[in-house]
Amino acid sequence: MLENAGWIESDRIESYIARDGYKALLHALAEMSPAEVIAAITQSGLRGRGGAGYPTGLKWSTVAKANGPRKFVVCNGDEGDPGAFMDRSVMEDDPHRVLEGMAIAAYAVGASHGYIYVRAEYPRAIKRLKTAISRAERHGLLGSGIAGTSFSFSIDLRVGAGAFVCGEETALIASVQGNRGTPRPRPPYPAMSGLWSCPTLINNVETLGSIAPIIRCGAPWYAAIGTEKSHGTKVFCLTGAIKNTGLIEVPMGITLRDIVFDIGGGIPNGRKFKAVQTGGPSGGCIPEQYLDMPVDYESLREVGSIMGSGGMIVMDDSSCMVDVARFFMEFCMSESCGKCIPCRVGTAEMYKLLTRIATGTATMNDLSKLEELCNMVRETSLCGLGQSAPNPVVSTLRYFREEYLAHVNEGICPAGVCQMSSRQGVTSHA
Ligand SMILES: Cc1cc2nc3c(=O)[nH]c(=O)nc-3n(C[C@H](O)[C@H](O)[C@H](O)COP(=O)(O)O)c2cc1C
Repeated sequence: MLENAGWIESDRIESYIARDGYKALLHALAEMSPAEVIAAITQSGLRGRGGAGYPTGLKWSTVAKANGPRKFVVCNGDEGDPGAFMDRSVMEDDPHRVLEGMAIAAYAVGASHGYIYVRAEYPRAIKRLKTAISRAERHGLLGSGIAGTSFSFSIDLRVGAGAFVCGEETALIASVQGNRGTPRPRPPYPAMSGLWSCPTLINNVETLGSIAPIIRCGAPWYAAIGTEKSHGTKVFCLTGAIKNTGLIEVPMGITLRDIVFDIGGGIPNGRKFKAVQTGGPSGGCIPEQYLDMPVDYESLREVGSIMGSGGMIVMDDSSCMVDVARFFMEFCMSESCGKCIPCRVGTAEMYKLLTRIATGTATMNDLSKLEELCNMVRETSLCGLGQSAPNPVVSTLRYFREEYLAHVNEGICPAGVCQMSSRQGVTSHA
């Protein structure tokens, strides 16, 4: 995914072509039927990198089979997770890779137009994608009659105002259509009824960026990387209490220990590893006991977290897990679109309860209420934002319950982070 970053000049299509760029598109158009392209993506085992890990080949075949006057391909470049910049890096450093993946996807599902949805906070990505689109059009690699064939595909850019919920696919569709970006119940799924009620294929930047190498090098090559159910590589954004921060691309199945202590260089300042938070605001905190767990979609879910889009925040023993849960809840509360009550009111109530715990003014009854609300918001929210907002709370309660109890029963923040208002205990930042 990142092999071209730093090696090509993103504004020059020639430098992408010199590194085998657009070979896969030309090969697909000349040698493969749309069904064969979908079969190759299915065999590769590629799963959507936008968070849920949905099988990409299955999604493509659903759109290909759907009936509609037109079909669309949408690249989801909203990337709203706080601190994550994997997709931004691909869009900025290797924009033609995204365009090539979209064009192959369009050929496979029968779409003639596509949109890239990018947040306004990514001006460099927007500029480079615009340049890339015009260069590809000039080279006959986008537009009508691509490479002398009867296949036509054009791409427009849509700039989002930067709301987290606009990354959710139905909210994104509303936003592209010029409406307020709020989700709607599914089904119908966008694959059957998306943009202007037409079948719409929505894929993440990294998913689309994986397409050209799969077509070029073959599905078996890709399927051989990773674990039994999660193939290929994944880009993670490694941040927090770690010596080497930044983007890393690793094969699925690598252990957390290798990521944190080998690639990341370990914990700085002689401090002790405490947990790693994966999946952003929808994810969870994984404690030390799982450091040797191979990282893939299934294993992360089993321990109460998710892969998400690839955020990975390492925490040392100076982090308070109540504070961490409160941070993510504040994010979800302020990013809730307000359309459904469980998310709008539930996240605000959970935030209030977490604040009470963090300030040493909560009772055990508040802790039970928090747990009840976690279940209620998870079960009844309209979209993934609310459904996953309790995850950081649930996972920290599961692995670090004693920290919650110390705040509630003793008025103490063991890590010395929370400002206790009423009782004795630790009162200031260490
Ligand atoms: C609150 C919320 C935010 C999301 N943000 C993004 C995002 O920024 N980028 C993304 O690709 N998917 C995001 N998703 C997932 C999309 O709804 C969708 O599943 C994804 O774009 C599908 O692409 P994939 O199959 O390639 O993963 C988000 C989902 C939710 C619930």
